[in-house]
Order: sequence, then structure tokens, then C-alpha cells
Amino acid sequence: WPVFAPYIHAINRLKKERGAVILAHNYQTPEIFHCVADIKGDSLQLARDAVSVDAEIIVQCGVHFMAETSKLLNPEKTVLIPDGRAGCSLSESITGADVRLLRERYPGVPVVTYVNTSADVKAETDICCTSANAVDVVNSFDSDTVLCIPDEYLAMNVANQTHKKILTWKGHCEVHERFTADELLEYKRADPRIEIVAHPECHPSVLAVSDFAGSTKGMIDYVKTKRPARVLLVTECSMASNIQVEVPEVDFVKPCNLCPHMKRITLPKILDSLLFMTEEVTVDPAIAGRARLAVERMINLKV
Ligand code: 13P
Ligand code: SF4
Repeated sequence: WPVFAPYIHAINRLKKERGAVILAHNYQTPEIFHCVADIKGDSLQLARDAVSVDAEIIVQCGVHFMAETSKLLNPEKTVLIPDGRAGCSLSESITGADVRLLRERYPGVPVVTYVNTSADVKAETDICCTSANAVDVVNSFDSDTVLCIPDEYLAMNVANQTHKKILTWKGHCEVHERFTADELLEYKRADPRIEIVAHPECHPSVLAVSDFAGSTKGMIDYVKTKRPARVLLVTECSMASNIQVEVPEVDFVKPCNLCPHMKRITLPKILDSLLFMTEEVTVDPAIAGRARLAVERMINLKV
């Protein structure tokens, strides 16, 4: 990509000079994912790896809640996000005050919160989860009923894999909620060989017509291991582009939907971030301790 080369060169040089590390989510564009990222993965991998980052500066190429999670786990480090407006429809669907009200309504019911939430929400919960470990986290409680918030579809998909009663919230991922089972069945009808691989933020009816469902890492591992001739990744667009180089023989059938928040992160903004040390992510000390505990409980959970 000649147009990106000067940025890639400058970012990699500045990264070394500053002693910075770039963490990138699987939805980042290929030029970020392949050319400047040091650590890449799904939300769980990024949270786990953030704990052991050996650098004073972390540049988070992802959305704001991911940068906040890195800051929670590295309070003494500088965490930068190249565009602080990179939000998430799930994260914006709920506040800490909402969780307090839920606790009042369902006293004694454990609260499992998706990592796609603000630190304010994490501070009010018992433990975080990601799409990779949600079922294990829910099953780690003795209680027959568990609140699994704020992603309604993730919660419904978890409910299909546990005997517990799952209470939830009306949050949705604006990217994954757009996929429908009918649209996927059209692809299957046109070519029955197509494998459908979906993210659990999709509606359960979408998972019902899929061959596999898992976190973004789970989806990538499935494709790399199984190497289907044709596959439809029911998730954000950049996933297929990012793994295509590793599995050139696989035919990735699109549609995909773009996450406008993830796409706010670009090479020029990463360069600015390193040049001017912007935008620094901070977490209110009044909530940071409790929010960190919820993330650490998830990371330390033995399943
Ligand atoms: P995972 O990478 O944890 O599967 O999450 C997907 C997602 O939508 C993150 O914003
Ligand atoms: Fe949020 Fe969905 Fe975008 Fe992930 S893909 S950051 S869940 S809006």
C-alpha cells in the first residue's frame, strides 16, 4: 500500500523512540492490523495482554471502552487513543445508575457485564465477560439467575447454552444487529457449500443458521483451522480482509457491516497520537478501583 508507507514508517519509528506499544482489535483496518500493531486480538486477548505490556505508553487502536480497560489494568501507564470519539452502541446503551437500579430490582442476583461498557458501569458489576468467555463467567456463579448486561442478543445466546435464568438489557451492537437469518439463508441457497461463521452479538436466529459462533478470535481460529472453501464471516468488514493473507485459498463472501467507531482510527490519527501524546485516557479514581476488580476477576477466572 504505497499511499500508507510514509505513515507506517513514521509510526514505527516514533513508536520505538517513545517506547510505545500499539494494541489493535481484530476490526482495525489491514494497514493498521498488519503494519503497525504489536499486539492484536479479540477483547479478551487485548485485556489479558494489556496486563503484561512492557512499555510506558500504550496506543489503543480500537474503541474507547478498550482503551479504558487498558488504563484500568495499567493505572501507572500512559494510555492513548487516536480518536477519543470512537464509541460503541453497546457501551452507550447503559450507565452505572442503570445498573444500580437493576440491583435494587433484583437484589442478590449476580451482575455480569460485557466488557463493552464504560468504567462507570464496570464499577457497579460483579465481573466482566467477553464474547469468548460469557458462558463460563455466567456458570461460575452458584445463583440460578444471573443478570447478563447490556447486550440482549449475547445474553439470549448465553441463555441457550446454560441452565440458568438469564436477565438482560436492551443494548445491541449496531453492526451485528443488522444481519438477518433470511439474508444468510439466501447465501446458503445460492451455494450450500458456504460456511457461515457468526459473532454472538448477532440475534439468536442468525446463530441458528450458522455453522459456528464465537468471539472474533474464535471466528479467526475456526477459519484458519478448518479452511473452508467459501466462508461468510457475519461480523465487521475488516476481519475478512485481515485474515485473507493468512488463508489465501479461502474465498470470503461478503456482506459485512462496517463499525463506524472502529473506523475512526486511522494511520494519520495514530501518528498524531504518538507525536502529540493525544488523546490520553483517564479514569475517575473514585470508580477505577471497583471497575478494575471486575475486569481482573474475569481475567483471573479459572474455568
Ligand atoms: P470480540 O473481539 O471480543 O469478539 O468483540 C467484538 C466486538 O464487537 C468488539 O467491539
Ligand atoms: Fe461496539 Fe459493535 Fe462496534 Fe464492537 S462492532 S465496537 S460492539 S458497535
